Amino acid sequence: MKVKDILEKACYENILTKDEIKLLLMAEGDDKELLFKTADSVRKEHVGDEVFLRGLIEFSSYCKNDCFYCGLRRSNSQAQRYRMQEDEIVEVAKRAYQMGYRTVVLQSGEDMYYTKDMLCSIIKKIKSSVDVAITLSIGERSYDEYKAFKDAGADRFLMRFETSNEELYKKYHPGMSFEKRIECLKWIKNLGYELGTGFLIGLPGQTIDDLAQDILLVKELDADMIGIGPFIPHPQTPLKDSKEGSVDLTLKSIAILRLLIPDANIPATTALGTLDPLGRQKGLKCGANIVMPNVNDLEYKLKYELYPGKICINEDATKCRGCIESIIVSLGRKVGQGKGQSRHYKRFA
Ligand code: 5AD
Ligand code: FES
Repeated sequence: MKVKDILEKACYENILTKDEIKLLLMAEGDDKELLFKTADSVRKEHVGDEVFLRGLIEFSSYCKNDCFYCGLRRSNSQAQRYRMQEDEIVEVAKRAYQMGYRTVVLQSGEDMYYTKDMLCSIIKKIKSSVDVAITLSIGERSYDEYKAFKDAGADRFLMRFETSNEELYKKYHPGMSFEKRIECLKWIKNLGYELGTGFLIGLPGQTIDDLAQDILLVKELDADMIGIGPFIPHPQTPLKDSKEGSVDLTLKSIAILRLLIPDANIPATTALGTLDPLGRQKGLKCGANIVMPNVNDLEYKLKYELYPGKICINEDATKCRGCIESIIVSLGRKVGQGKGQSRHYKRFA
């Protein structure tokens, strides 16, 4: 089957076989350009020219897990740890609102210091102060906690499954289980959150077959938001000597998922912008429609080191927003107004 035919099928049926996805992941030259162009026009047709900005608040760099790739892993004794207190988090959310953000993403390592009640209180305080959507990105919790956060006013939840290859998952996530991860994602979806998930590109040992499977799993989980980023080796982790993930494969994965879930929200991730100075622009041109600038103070930004070399780390939050707005305009796109709920999201029951 030719790439052109596969793309036609993807646009028409929104589903592809694993082999078809693999062919798209391996496309080069004109075929690759056609994939990107098709994804860009599907993006335009289904979610328009607006690029929505999300204000990212990384509120704790503590983590109880030990993921092999992540700079925040608990075994990294050189990591700089901080925890923002409740009022400080609420203040930063208000500041984000004043800067124009209508979604804030509360992200942290898996830090059980923040109890169910504390997080509910933070969510409620933000919701009663400013009119923003709240996205949580805090990892695995119990069903009861996910439900309490939703009842408190959280709207969306991001949690990547990182890799669908169970063997690799086990190897790189000591003490964690893939099955549990998927269970959490299903709970989140069933509780009525907008669900965001995705994976890492280029984990050592990952194959094209695995990536095709990752893409199919995002489709199967029926994600409303899709986060895909290249792996970047962190010098204080066991994967420090591994090769970084491919920008090209990341762009192709974004493009393919735009075809399979045309109305999803897909960010051009910071990791993409870190490996390629034009990475975010390229992402926005092959299917992405979201950017997530950090709104924290410099002091915290420097300490939240998932991977080295993160872009925008020395920029103050206002400058960062200005810079991203000019990128959006230079691409002939518009800065999204309003909360930018995923068009894929359907409230049920
Ligand atoms: N390189 C790229 N992405 C990383 N993440 C964690 N560590 C790295 C790394 N070294 C990603 C994970 C996680 C998200 C918050 O950051 O995919 O889900
Ligand atoms: Fe924190 Fe992986 S090291 S969730």
